[in-house]
Amino acid sequence: MTQSGLSSKVALSDFDIFSQFLEKACGIVLGKNKEYLVKSRLRKILNDNKIDTLAELVKTIERNPRDVLRGKVIDAMTTNETLWFRDNYPFEVFKNTILPELCKRYPNQRLRVWSAACSSGQEPYSISMATDEFERTSLGQLKAGLQIIATDLSNKVLAECRTGEYDSLALGRGLSDERLKRYFNELQGKRWEVKPEIKKRIEFKELNLQESYASLGKFDVVFCRNVLIYFSADFKRDILSRIHKTLKPGGYLFLGASEALNGLADLYEMVQCRPGIMYVSKGEDVFARSSTKSSTFGSSTASAKTSSTTSRSTAATSPTTRPSTSRSGVSSKTTSSTKSQPSTFKPKPKPTDR
Ligand SMILES: C[S@@+](CC[C@H](N)C(=O)[O-])C[C@H]1O[C@@H](n2cnc3c(N)ncnc32)[C@H](O)[C@@H]1O
Repeated sequence: MTQSGLSSKVALSDFDIFSQFLEKACGIVLGKNKEYLVKSRLRKILNDNKIDTLAELVKTIERNPRDVLRGKVIDAMTTNETLWFRDNYPFEVFKNTILPELCKRYPNQRLRVWSAACSSGQEPYSISMATDEFERTSLGQLKAGLQIIATDLSNKVLAECRTGEYDSLALGRGLSDERLKRYFNELQGKRWEVKPEIKKRIEFKELNLQESYASLGKFDVVFCRNVLIYFSADFKRDILSRIHKTLKPGGYLFLGASEALNGLADLYEMVQCRPGIMYVSKGEDVFARSSTKSSTFGSSTASAKTSSTTSRSTAATSPTTRPSTSRSGVSSKTTSSTKSQPSTFKPKPKPTDR
């Protein structure tokens, strides 16, 4: 073997060792051609710690797993890209359709929302602002309030979340002037802080999505957006199955615009929003099959028409569509992936299942 052949083989195995470490630590799967990206993201850490190779870095971390080095490496390898009201429709559907529906379903219970992988806080704060906007137009409906649990793997981004302070660059990404004025206090140095009434709904917690979600309790709505793209198909399925367990029957799940269920049609019903898609957690005690027309959101008249309206469903092999009577951004079609039982689901309020 030539000298250059030998060194490229050594470099590849060095990269593989690091890839295995990263996947084990947080589920992130590195593509084969990501070596340059890894090296550029870790260059400063390697230099600061006088470490020459990725394999040596992994060894150093494994020798002392509690050292801050581990967290720094994982932080460097995660992508924290986020925006206010990202993609807009999840927050519109949440405010205009989901909240009115949940207030009817659980009139005296506090609603609970999970922002899983919340990055620097734009997602949970957007949820809290959308909740405030709902309350302003529907006085008294959200009687028992709403709690948002926002989690991320990274303590660094969670620290930013907790301050609730952002600079003009961050605020320029998706936040309207009207929302800036209404929901932020201006600080010195072109920085703004989220107002206490928006902050107080949110509890920030460190959570690696590989860990158990049992301590989080049950949720009415889960936002797990723009994080599954970094994981293997098996890990995605594992996360989505365990999120299903945290959702109350008939609870709602939002994924990122480029993410899909990859199977699990037995756990979630896909619902078309216009634009976008959300998922409704299947559970027999809330959704009772019905062939009668209902005006409640999520219910419908039966239609066995095969949908061609969704381009990115991998969950539904032959989805059926049904008209819905929702008054908001949710589409007049929902998509059920249960081919043999197309139909209609009628939400049955069950306020005691919390
Ligand atoms: C691209 S951001 C998405 C932020 C937000 N959900 C959104 O849609 O704008 C991805 C976030 O996932 C977090 N993350 C990556 N792997 C994770 C894991 N195994 N457990 C929890 N969070 C993780 C990263 O720290 C990062 O903040």
